[in-house]
Amino acid sequence: MINRWPETDESKQLLIDQVKSFAQKVIAPKAKELDETGRFPTEIVAQLSEMGLMGMMVPEEFGGSGMDTVSYAMAMEEVAAACASTAVVMSVNNSLVCGPISYFGNEAQKKKWLVPLAQGKKLGCFALSEPGAGSDPGGLRCHAKKVDGGYSVKGTKNWITNGKEADVCVLFATTDPTKGSKGISAFIVDTKSKGFQVAKLEDKLGINASSTAQLFFDDVFVPADCLLGEEGQGLKIALHTLDGGRIGIAAQALGIAKCALEASKKFAQEREQFGAPIAKLQAIQWHIADMATRLHAARLLTWNAARNKDLGLKYTQEAAMAKLSASESAMWIATKAIQVHGGYGYTKEYVVERNFRDAKITEIYEGTSEIQRLVIAAQEFAQR
Ligand code: CAA
Repeated sequence: MINRWPETDESKQLLIDQVKSFAQKVIAPKAKELDETGRFPTEIVAQLSEMGLMGMMVPEEFGGSGMDTVSYAMAMEEVAAACASTAVVMSVNNSLVCGPISYFGNEAQKKKWLVPLAQGKKLGCFALSEPGAGSDPGGLRCHAKKVDGGYSVKGTKNWITNGKEADVCVLFATTDPTKGSKGISAFIVDTKSKGFQVAKLEDKLGINASSTAQLFFDDVFVPADCLLGEEGQGLKIALHTLDGGRIGIAAQALGIAKCALEASKKFAQEREQFGAPIAKLQAIQWHIADMATRLHAARLLTWNAARNKDLGLKYTQEAAMAKLSASESAMWIATKAIQVHGGYGYTKEYVVERNFRDAKITEIYEGTSEIQRLVIAAQEFAQR
């Protein structure tokens, strides 16, 4: 199986080897406990920060590692193969928080906010979704009213990854409700601001060690210099950011799928039925073959989207295809993995049970599979 991208140079390979070794030796042994307790992996995130993995694509002058998106996808896959919860904490900080500040922030905003986020000294969250605006962020209601010196924000945000631990929030709110989606603006908000509240933590099926929070903004004052980009540019900033985010989530799904495949191969070689390891049975070999093929196809789509981003080419459709393929493959592969494990796979003793639960969210967050299909189809028709 091809595990190398043609352009993988030695420094990239070294990084991936380091991340893989760290993920397997340090993160993987803790993943079961993290899943069971729902404990945020503080010490692991601190180590990821030291390794330069919390702001991988941010230029070095702003505290990041200055790496490309292909490296990011490869590192994300390795972290997710060990612990999907840790991976989404890393993905949100890299793609959804450092991403838009790098791209749309001014020099002062980058110095103030991006540097500590990229260094991992601060953690970020991305607050776009609302109780009534998930797949349709253009319909959001959170209101940023102009006041002396800035804005006063009032509203509710839902399903916000890292919402409980975040120091910084990239927030989307309407500055002009009469303009609909063209009235949405983006802000950088200090979560220590008066009126910012973590209202509720979701009790979830998977990715249990990452927080998913409902946030209340109760007349939170946001200074004028925290406006990200221009007023009214918010939806475009959000959708542009999500293009990059979808590559990260695709890579997270690859990691979950890889973990399920590797566990299945190991199990099939150890488990004996009918007098021989079940890996000798064609029925099992076919499952493994299909799992490996789907994983590899999704990986190539993901690396292709990442490369397009690195080369400055369009990648909206490529990122949507990558996320659609990787997330649906992860769910499919995790389901097959339980089948290969039989009754054992249905128990919490085996990692594939967690893979199955963790895989599901990759078909939902940062755009459901249905939204990815909409994006892909829109691009198809635009090209005609
Ligand atoms: N990049 C930049 N701009 C874009 C863009 C992109 N990829 N896609 C569209 N735009 C622009 C359009 O050009 C348009 O601009 P104009 O008005 O100037 O022409 C504007 O944005 C609106 O575009 P559309 O009319 O196409 O937008 P729409 O309202 O019809 O929505 C959609 C399209 C594909 C459904 C989009 O809303 C979407 O992706 N929805 C899913 C949202 C999502 O992923 N939510 C997840 C939230 S994050 C999360 O999961 C939480 C977490 O913590 C992990």
